[in-house]
Amino acid sequence: MRSEIILLLTSSRLEVIRLEKLMIRGGEQLSGHVTISGAKNSAVALIPAAILANSAVYLENLPDIKDVHLLAEILEELGAKIELSNGTMLIDPAEMRPKHLPNGKVKELRASYYLMGALLGKFGEAYVGLPGGCNLGSRPVDQHIKGFEGLGATVKNESGALHLQADKLVGNRIFLDVVSVGATINIMLAAAGAKGQTIIENAAKEPEIIDVATLLNSMGVKITGVGTDIIKIQGSDQLTGCRHSIIPDRIEAGTYMIFAAATNGDITVDNVIPKHLESITAKLTELGALVTEMDDSIRVIGQSYYKPVDIKTHTYPGFPTDLQQPFSVLLTHAEGTSMITENIFSSRFRHVDELRRMGANIRVEGRNAIFEGPASLQGASVKMTDLRAGAALVTAALSAEGISQISEIHHIDRGYENLEKKLVKLGAKVWRVFEE
Ligand code: UD1
Repeated sequence: MRSEIILLLTSSRLEVIRLEKLMIRGGEQLSGHVTISGAKNSAVALIPAAILANSAVYLENLPDIKDVHLLAEILEELGAKIELSNGTMLIDPAEMRPKHLPNGKVKELRASYYLMGALLGKFGEAYVGLPGGCNLGSRPVDQHIKGFEGLGATVKNESGALHLQADKLVGNRIFLDVVSVGATINIMLAAAGAKGQTIIENAAKEPEIIDVATLLNSMGVKITGVGTDIIKIQGSDQLTGCRHSIIPDRIEAGTYMIFAAATNGDITVDNVIPKHLESITAKLTELGALVTEMDDSIRVIGQSYYKPVDIKTHTYPGFPTDLQQPFSVLLTHAEGTSMITENIFSSRFRHVDELRRMGANIRVEGRNAIFEGPASLQGASVKMTDLRAGAALVTAALSAEGISQISEIHHIDRGYENLEKKLVKLGAKVWRVFEE
């Protein structure tokens, strides 16, 4: 779905595509229960991982989001049979053939880089255009390449696409210079099809990595050490289909917890793993919100007064960079000076200009954003610059006075299932408008 206006002047026609905007009337105290969907960042890795099997894989609890549909369409282009119903996707890779994917859909999402590891592991060859996705500053893939080369592949950059080839992939010891979620998973995917043992040192520990390892283990790979910084993978060329249910999306859950705090509301997020949300729970509590953890749900009760807090983003189990942007809105409400230090990405404060338009007092100095609060946010016309910046603007609009009009909402459609439906159920005044 394209949600922006585009005038495509082709040789024969002028095409007008609809412009979609999200409208939010702020000031409602959100309350009730919200069921959290399957994790986007797991789903986008599990779908490529499934092609390593030689028979059908069923992925359950998939979120209904644009990135999932794009990956399914790419796999269909490669000859896989895909069926999707009620959040379960059947992926049957039996008829798949290797094919070059230089452009098109692979450019629309960052996670298309997982096709590199999966295709290399399955066919010994991959040709995939360098990925798109959120613009958060420079996002190199040198560690992915280091891993593929370590397993014996040659990697060439051919006009913006990576061409990977290996007569034979052989397990090896790979030390990551940077702790990277994407590189850890991508090397696991390639190593699943390699002969012998691969050891990834300085691996990332995110729950989504454990989820991918669980699927690969069910398919017949032997992976140990996930959740620590040393992962061992024993590959196999006889991987079979299986059923796998995706973990809940901790970032979506964290976003709704933030909505509760931002609107002085009372929201219970259901279908979550509270342990995955410890850093958010800790910071919301430090701020002054009331947070209660239950077995598989968390209740957040917002308050009208918040203390200032400092946040430093970190790899898991630290505070996730993906929630730094929505959380920043809470710091505009806190009384005093707060600071966010963004340690993962070089440019993840692009939402700050938009928050300023709404009345926030924030200055950015390098990797730090400094907040002077409390600010009384006012509805405004603002623009999403990336997925989580989108979540930040929705948070701000929900807590602002008056109506906000948010454009470039294709960003948020990439990552949040049924956002408006879930918000309306919690009592928000939110709707989409279309213009031509
Ligand atoms: C994933 C998540 C994203 C999240 C991020 C950090 C997916 C699809 N996306 O992104 O939502 O914000 O983890 O938790 O799961 N780096 C290199 N060289 C590389 C790879 C990464 O220098 O080869 C750097 C990056 O520029 C960044 C840091 O390592 O500064 C972490 O990036 P990484 O963990 O790889 O993020 P992604 O996998 O892209």
